[in-house]
Amino acid sequence: MRTELETIIINPPSNGAFFKTAPTSPDVDVYNRPISEVFQQRLDAITSQKWESDQENAFFVADLGEVLRQHFRWKSLLPRIEPFYDPMVVQLLASLGCGFDCASKQEIQQVLDVGVEASRIIYANPCKQASFIRYAAQQNVSRMTFDNAEELLKIKKYYPEAELVLRILTDDSMSLCQLGLKFGAPLHTVQHLLQTAKDLDLNVVGVSFHVGSGCLDENAFGDAVLLARNVFDQAKCMGYDFKLLDVGGGFPGADVKDGITFEKVAAVLGPIVDRLFPTDVRVIAEPGRYYVASAFTLTTNIIGRRTSNAVTESSEPATNPEYMYYVNDGMYGSFNCIIFDHQVVHPKVLLKDELFMFGQDVPEAQYESSVWGPTCDSIDCLNKSTRLPKLEPGDWLYYENMGAYTICAASQFNGFRKSEVLYTNTFC
Ligand SMILES: Cc1ncc(COP(=O)(O)O)c(C=O)c1O
Repeated sequence: MRTELETIIINPPSNGAFFKTAPTSPDVDVYNRPISEVFQQRLDAITSQKWESDQENAFFVADLGEVLRQHFRWKSLLPRIEPFYDPMVVQLLASLGCGFDCASKQEIQQVLDVGVEASRIIYANPCKQASFIRYAAQQNVSRMTFDNAEELLKIKKYYPEAELVLRILTDDSMSLCQLGLKFGAPLHTVQHLLQTAKDLDLNVVGVSFHVGSGCLDENAFGDAVLLARNVFDQAKCMGYDFKLLDVGGGFPGADVKDGITFEKVAAVLGPIVDRLFPTDVRVIAEPGRYYVASAFTLTTNIIGRRTSNAVTESSEPATNPEYMYYVNDGMYGSFNCIIFDHQVVHPKVLLKDELFMFGQDVPEAQYESSVWGPTCDSIDCLNKSTRLPKLEPGDWLYYENMGAYTICAASQFNGFRKSEVLYTNTFC
């Protein structure tokens, strides 16, 4: 059966301009145009409204169609594994029937607020604030992870009826963000933890793992599933009958990194899950980056330029100038992914001399350049060394694949606001 949103998207309104629907919130306009046109329209509006306050602020264009394409790709390659999403593009995915992996009371609240039932949520933070556990209990969000005995004592006190999922430690050495430094029970602790849960009369229902975010080796998923099978077997010997496997996140977002693709992960993960787990075991996943990375493109305005070697020591003009560009979103804003998510970002020219260049090569001389964010801190550097044509203040750069771990962790340091998001949907 088609959900309401699929119906809207497969049969777009005929007026073609844009439609209001509810993938993000009822008040958000969603265009149904190519993202290049959304950029162009906004930039045209800016140049015709010269000097309006904040008009040249950086902004994202988010393509919800890309989220949908990722969803249908998931459904075709991993049909047995139900995605439980990090709540960012919440309403769209809720309407597609996804579940949600929440890290805090606020994320649980956000998901409940869009009408998702408690049974479609897993509270997947192994170390939870006591009052948040109480909140989960009040809201009947019963499924939650743990990886230590102290957490079991807390859950016993605040939500003894919870359905517990044991998060195990797996090899995350091939991942950009190694979550195992912080979470995951090593295999040798499993028996003790399961015994503690039994002694406390708690209800453990399954196993979860996370191979690390930005995983570069599809075999990490296969190895982790093998470990999970081992834990299911240990649990069976202790009288448990586990019925839930949560294969976590770590799925690639944009197919640009070192040859890893979702197809390669699915080719390892799907068959090993089917081989090792009978069909009465429910299998879920917590994909974050996978759904959103490629859906968001960010554009920034060049607010300043310095020629770092404008004159030589003998006061002659430099023959080979090097440029420093200052743009209006940075490391403390959407580009925090450079630090927290170990990303390397690639600037492209969006608007130069009022010419719209989306998706085009600029056939001009390229110069050694660096790109800097707007704050007063020198750590706020987006590209230390890159090649760009000579650009002027007022021109625009854009960065693709900016949907994961960007705006959600942005600060407003030095008073710079978070970049706005314009939505479009290119699915049809
Ligand atoms: C518990 C949990 N689940 C899912 C995710 C999403 O991971 P990814 O974006 O690598 O798919 C994270 C990310 O940190 C996480 O901590």
